[in-house]
Amino acid sequence: MVARVIPVESFDLVVFGATGDLARRKILPGLFRRLAAGQMPEGARIIGAARSDMKRADFQKMVGEALDEFDPKTAANKALRARFLDCLHYVQLDVATPAGWKALAKQLRADVVRAFYLSVSPSLFGVIAAGLNEHGLATAQSRIVVEKPLGHDLASARALNAQLSTGFGEGQIYRIDHYLGKETVQNLMALRFANALFEPLWNARHVDHVQITVAEDIGVEGRGGYYDKSGAMRDMVQNHLMQLLCLTAMEPPSRFEPDALRDEKLKVIRSLEPVLPEHIVRGQYRAGNGQDSYVTHSENPASKTESFVALRVDVSNWRWSGTPFYLRTGKRLRARMSEIAITFKETPHSIFPGMDHHRNVLVIRLQPNEGITLRMTIKDPGPGGMRLTEVPMDMTFSEALALEIGAVPDAYERLIMDVIRGDQTLFMRGDEVEAAWGWTDPIIAAWEAAGTTPSAYDPGGSGPEDALALLHRDGRKWREIAV
Ligand code: BG6
Repeated sequence: MVARVIPVESFDLVVFGATGDLARRKILPGLFRRLAAGQMPEGARIIGAARSDMKRADFQKMVGEALDEFDPKTAANKALRARFLDCLHYVQLDVATPAGWKALAKQLRADVVRAFYLSVSPSLFGVIAAGLNEHGLATAQSRIVVEKPLGHDLASARALNAQLSTGFGEGQIYRIDHYLGKETVQNLMALRFANALFEPLWNARHVDHVQITVAEDIGVEGRGGYYDKSGAMRDMVQNHLMQLLCLTAMEPPSRFEPDALRDEKLKVIRSLEPVLPEHIVRGQYRAGNGQDSYVTHSENPASKTESFVALRVDVSNWRWSGTPFYLRTGKRLRARMSEIAITFKETPHSIFPGMDHHRNVLVIRLQPNEGITLRMTIKDPGPGGMRLTEVPMDMTFSEALALEIGAVPDAYERLIMDVIRGDQTLFMRGDEVEAAWGWTDPIIAAWEAAGTTPSAYDPGGSGPEDALALLHRDGRKWREIAV
């Protein structure tokens, strides 16, 4: 059965911070590709709102240049490019002064969906939400979109949720975690819940352990100021890795609907045990292989911020009790590689003499080379008796589906269109974000109280030595970071 594509109604999308990097790089080129794919309805309008004193034509010129830079292939179609630029409008708006709000109010139509995308510093989320409310712009047809960092601990996340909810109901708040917009992350749900094969095995009786890795080869580069206040735990684990963990560990929701799914994710977070200090390793990259150290880009030469974390997480429920989840993420590692690897238990008894115990491993590759691999044991072909060997059963999605390069939409494209459609399935609910902070806070508080320094690691490797020991102690081994 072919899934129904839900039509998109006409809309006014206001992008606050429209001249900023995220808007130029991701949001506007993403919308342009949706227009190219025929998903932009007649009369759709994108209204840039920023402090710069520009006219509509200046904004169109700026966006045109961004399209040429970030999506030259689609932008080469001059007719499409012109159609997109025609959807653009601009309002100069300083959130602290009423004039801009009034100008914005004039631009908006009464009878269409309104989406307010806050592509601005999180310190402005509350002010803008309040401004929209005070100036009567937050109508029943309105949605507000925010992206991490959604607070830096439980108290600030609660305060932010309270600020957002003064003008918007929970059903109107779209909290983005861009990992949920990635095709392969959604594929994890398809794999689990559209195939009968895995579910009977998806539990502690059959799974030995799970490894979730999000490795990056880049460093913090120009983001040292932000990163010093966040570190890998807040920047990656509390949100992206937590979402991957939830989608892997959750019970099947009764329907693929926003609250059904988010209820199940929340139950996972609430089942997480506090992490023991000996089950967590922090690292920070030093200089080497011609690369700068973390502190070169930090505002504090003695920074103790972690650019790497590895931890063992125990999910205390009937499905997972006794099966650890190992999470690891870091910058300046050997490769950009994200995957979820489910290692199954050994065969209960070996009938083959001298056979090492082999384990099946199911690997869901999120990036690059998105796909699925199942490691199987087979007979090594040829004479010499019954010798066994391991081989991968490999499916790379782009090959299996004969996709052209670039055919898979970027996470933002998918998510923005979901906002317009009013589908919150791939967005985080307020209680989910708070629960994730509730689990993360004590970990960070314990580090701060102990004043520990992260272990140094060399650029281009797989993180600090003690991360290896974390698994060795449990008689297990990390998968290699490689593409
Ligand atoms: C962001 C983090 O949320 O995700 C960055 O702030 C990180 O530090 C990025 O580099 C990784 O995203 P992706 O899509 O490149 O895996």
